[in-house]
Amino acid sequence: MVYAIIGFLAYILGSIPSGLIVGKVFYKIDIREHGSGNLGGTNSFRTLGVKAGLVVTIADILKGTVATALPFWFGSDFHPLLAGLLAVIGHMYPVFAGFRGGKAVATSGGVLLAYNPILFLVLISCFFLSLYLSKMVSLSSIIAAIVGVIYSFFYGDKPLVIAISLLAFFVIYRHRANIKRIINKTEPKIKWM
Ligand code: G3P
Repeated sequence: MVYAIIGFLAYILGSIPSGLIVGKVFYKIDIREHGSGNLGGTNSFRTLGVKAGLVVTIADILKGTVATALPFWFGSDFHPLLAGLLAVIGHMYPVFAGFRGGKAVATSGGVLLAYNPILFLVLISCFFLSLYLSKMVSLSSIIAAIVGVIYSFFYGDKPLVIAISLLAFFVIYRHRANIKRIINKTEPKIKWM
């Protein structure tokens, strides 16, 4: 029973559509109808501005962090990474937003922040280095996801290798349209770095 409660709560937590809430409540905008159409931090920055972008990104990270900590709080042996994965699935396919959610990046980061903060720091460094060089959030997210898989092969335990491989798959799969634009050289670049 506790397993079902944790799994359910993790998915529900991940399903909280922070980008939709911030956009609709404070700006009367559904960000899925603007910019890239994605319900995530980057499109919130793009569509709503820096303040909203930061709030949405932090909220999306926290969803993953809190979900991953749930088994600990319940004193359960439910694997924290499984709870984290369920939150990321909720983030991508949110029950509260017609199953049209984000691209798994920030919430996956939140999972790693809770489970392996060193890996989180490594990946965030890769992300910002790549962002500085390429100016593309999508490409930087994909690169960080791939580095995460490689890192986990060397330094991670088996559950981490499996979980991060799944997370990287989610990130790459959800960036299909971005990948096409990167290849066609039409992917938008940020201007502030
Ligand atoms: O976190 C999502 C980011 O990597 C790309 O977002 O809106 O540019 O497709 P977007």
